Amino acid sequence: MARVLVTRRLPPGGLDPLVEAGHELVQRDDGRPLTHEELVRTAPEVDAIVCLLNDRIDADVLAAGAPRLKVVANVAVGYDNVDLEAAAEHDIVVCNTPGILDETTADLAFLLILAAARRAWEAESELRAGKWPGWDIDQFLGRDVHGAVVGVVGFGRIGQAVTRRATGFGMDVLHHTRRDTGLPGWRKDLDRLLAESDIVTLHVPLTDGTRHLIDARRLRLMKPDAVLVNTSRGPVIDEEALADALDEGVIFAAGLDVYEREPEVHPRLLASPRAVLFPHIGSASVATRTRMAQVAADNVRAVLAGAAPAHPVPPHQKEAS
Ligand code: DGY
Repeated sequence: MARVLVTRRLPPGGLDPLVEAGHELVQRDDGRPLTHEELVRTAPEVDAIVCLLNDRIDADVLAAGAPRLKVVANVAVGYDNVDLEAAAEHDIVVCNTPGILDETTADLAFLLILAAARRAWEAESELRAGKWPGWDIDQFLGRDVHGAVVGVVGFGRIGQAVTRRATGFGMDVLHHTRRDTGLPGWRKDLDRLLAESDIVTLHVPLTDGTRHLIDARRLRLMKPDAVLVNTSRGPVIDEEALADALDEGVIFAAGLDVYEREPEVHPRLLASPRAVLFPHIGSASVATRTRMAQVAADNVRAVLAGAAPAHPVPPHQKEAS
């Protein structure tokens, strides 16, 4: 039977497929995540790694693991933490968990849309701080979500799940992808989508092409009462530029679940009343996180049994959309 390194604590039941197959799990007793150095040190002693998006599985880890290491299974749909080229060089299969967390993440994107547009957290903090003087006609006025134009940037499974919710709110949906979807509302030109949308929600993977996709210039194309939401990856937005845009009233509000340098959050975003900030909880429901772990474990079990995993990351594609 094989040895499988599990880098961090996973939800109960998440590793059942590996336990049932009789594999040995290598995990720290104290539940603390492995440091990068520990990953490099442990990689040569295992046949598989089950890891999370905050484990850096770079060329050093993969080279150390080869030739014994056969598969790296990320418990996430994104895999910008894994060096795919190095994995391909060492014939190590990389897997992810697509299709599991779409609805859960879309729920959270919608929560951010509503919260940011209606200034919900700002209002709640004032109330909790004992600063609410009682109802008044002009308190915490937000912008309507129903009937607004939402621009969905990236139209994969999560973008489409957000679109279904938006349709229920009577919103007009625009979407931007590089390839023509052939659907109404497709905008080839991102700048045009930004200028036309009341609410913009980001659902692209992090690649060299999407890093700082939303920068100071693009923020200025947005409407002054626009809301920007990000549940994809933090570096897709230039946080410094966003902090400026919120401070200067270039846009109305932002709702963020992801950050450029997690777990750090830009201090001016932390201080901004117009930023709703969540700690990367897009997929954080018990059912979804458990399922993600099981799918990652299933992927490992398949590779170790000499079968094709259900969710291999295409080796020649740096990141999937
Ligand atoms: C992912 O899977 O990539 C999310 O960011 C975490 O669920």
